[in-house]
Amino acid sequence: MDATNGLQTPQLTFEEEVKAFFDSAPPLQNCAEISEKLKEFIARNSQHSDGNAKRVVCVTSGGTTAPLEQRCVRYVDNFSSGHRGATSTEYFLKAGYAVIFLYRRGSFQPFCRSLPDDPLLECFESNDDSNIRVREVHAEAVKRAIIEHEAAVADGLLLKLPYRTIFEYLQMLQMTAMSMRCLGPRGMFYLSAAVSDYYVPWKDMVEHKIQSGSHLLDVKLVQVPKMLLVLGEEWAPSAFCISFKLETDSNILLKKADKALRKYKMHAVVANELSTRKEEVVVVTSSEKITVRRNTSQPGDDVENPLIKLLSGRHLAYIEESSSIR
Ligand code: PMT
Repeated sequence: MDATNGLQTPQLTFEEEVKAFFDSAPPLQNCAEISEKLKEFIARNSQHSDGNAKRVVCVTSGGTTAPLEQRCVRYVDNFSSGHRGATSTEYFLKAGYAVIFLYRRGSFQPFCRSLPDDPLLECFESNDDSNIRVREVHAEAVKRAIIEHEAAVADGLLLKLPYRTIFEYLQMLQMTAMSMRCLGPRGMFYLSAAVSDYYVPWKDMVEHKIQSGSHLLDVKLVQVPKMLLVLGEEWAPSAFCISFKLETDSNILLKKADKALRKYKMHAVVANELSTRKEEVVVVTSSEKITVRRNTSQPGDDVENPLIKLLSGRHLAYIEESSSIR
């Protein structure tokens, strides 16, 4: 597939690109419902029953798809299992945050990481009376998943919003950010989703399934505007923003993370290399590069454990600093 197709496209300013993206996106199916859920969640956690206003983090997780047909059969996908986002959500909840988990349908979910791939069929069995029970070998993991998930939902601390396409993702990120604006510096964005870099604008997309048969598939893909800048400057200007940088070549990783930090005015960029991403990451800020490693002497520890502790501490300092300025 050719990203430019050799065609001359008119040069748009960044603002025009952003506008063109949202103008051309198919409207969200359940926009009113999502908006209501966000409003309720943020109001509840601004005045939580434990008496404290919570810190609220939006964790984005999984990869977006860029459809090739309006009645989509084929799409360009992004690599991400959602493990990072789901695991981080668990540690954010432990750190006392309320979490808006914006996730790709079908990707890893918080508290379910230690369950087998097909939890329904592998965790349960029927006995002689045809009653269903949990298999002994998975009993502990199932119990833990259910109790911890129920506690987070019952306390009103976890809101899960699913997306699939780049259109859904960016519209939902925008809605979430605008709703979180009232939180000021107590709001945080932890952008671990792998977001499409190219897409086919809805108006240029064929309606029906592209027919096979021709030797070359000629599709024109347009660059998705990086919304990080808009997020930090317009949608939620006081929020604490963390983005991610993924590379497969460790020689360019830190340089690219540093560049992203400055270009998109993030408070920190988490740099990770594909093959070692579950073992270590580097948190890049304007003054430091901090390597964070999983504690290998503690069985079952995750790199997200020290990572979220570090970011939560930085976020607290940011809130204090912001209130002393006002
Ligand atoms: O889910 P796992 O399998 O556990 O893997 C986790 C992960 C490796 C996917 C995760 O840790 C990670 O690095 N996520 C970001 C991957 C990525 O897409 O990086 P990027 O260099 O393309 O983008 C950098 C940042 O810009 C990201 O925070 C992304 O949200 C943002 N972006 C990207 C493209 C785009 N058009 N707009 C954006 O805002």
